[in-house]
Amino acid sequence: MKGRRPRPLDDGDSGRRRVSLIKGTTKLIKWENLRMPFISNCTASAIKDAATALINGDLVAFPTETVYGLGADAANENAVNKIYKAKGRPADHPVIVHISNINLLDKWANEIPEYAIKLARAFWPGPMTLILPRTHLAKDFITGGQNNVGIRIPNQVVGLALISEFEKQGGFGIAAPSANRFGAVSPTTAQAVEAELGQYLGANDQILDGGSCEVGVESTIIDCTGSTPIILRPGAITAAMIFETTALEPVSTNKVDIKAPGLLESHYSPKAKVILDQIPERGDGFIALSEIKTPEGVIRLASPKNTEEYAKVLYQALRRADEQLIKVVHAQLPIGNDIAVAIRDRLTKSANK
Ligand code: TXA
Ligand code: MG
Repeated sequence: MKGRRPRPLDDGDSGRRRVSLIKGTTKLIKWENLRMPFISNCTASAIKDAATALINGDLVAFPTETVYGLGADAANENAVNKIYKAKGRPADHPVIVHISNINLLDKWANEIPEYAIKLARAFWPGPMTLILPRTHLAKDFITGGQNNVGIRIPNQVVGLALISEFEKQGGFGIAAPSANRFGAVSPTTAQAVEAELGQYLGANDQILDGGSCEVGVESTIIDCTGSTPIILRPGAITAAMIFETTALEPVSTNKVDIKAPGLLESHYSPKAKVILDQIPERGDGFIALSEIKTPEGVIRLASPKNTEEYAKVLYQALRRADEQLIKVVHAQLPIGNDIAVAIRDRLTKSANK
């Protein structure tokens, strides 16, 4: 795919092209920068090529509804090692395995508790990762040597098409952490993936462009290896939603004793210094809900109308701060028990540099 330009099938709306996505369907996929050499156009043949690249042990960055992932064949140790190298991430950290449908769950996980099945039925495909006891397919290079494995079915049309095609070509699941350098801000556009990882990808690696991610922060991670669910990382699937579905009160903890970079106290950090809930000064960047005015001389980076929109624009705003060489970014911690919990979690960690 490297060097191949997207084939324009213009529908007259500049910046949007009508492309055939999977056989028999057409979708509008937006990709902003046609000059970028190795961002494909997500046609059926591009998705097929990308799945073949994965089968061949190459890397493919792909969109999900949360953030972009950097994918490799989850059954191929050499391929998964390439992810660690490209990210600059320690090799003993676990990665999430992405599958296209629930029928493939028992390939990777066994002894699945009833409440986990309820969660899977309710929220997959969606922004939720379940940690479950592993099968022999989930090797130590996927689980970081732990006896459990993280599984997710994402809800994004290009990402799902890639996973399905990969399975059709004989694969069992795609290992994919967020497509950023270790400790940095997760990418929510293909262009951000290119900026983060472009120089670390190999000649046959690819980036699939599926537009901006709808949710904008990473999936809720729920440990389902005990008698009650434990939220390891908050996300769009909230504690209240888990309780409604399972009738079990989930425990929320960031202090579990496992190797999980997203659970480290410092993560999701831009180059700028992030300061929370203080008054910004002239020249500082500022991220807050739209109801909060911008103090004079302050550079407004985002004015989301509600917490969902806040989650969606947060990482793009942090990235923009770095692009504009802003040294200090002030962010408002949103209140509430919805996705605001995830925003507070990520902002707190990004401020903890
Ligand atoms: O939304 C998401 O989850 C995105 C998209 C690409 O799916 N992925 C993502 O992956 O955020 P990553 O690797 O950046 O963060 C996943 C977190 C890491 O902190 C990892 O250590 C933890 O999940 N994790 C993965 N497998 C685990 C396991 N078996 N036990 C405990 N934690 C696990
Ligand atoms: Mg990550």
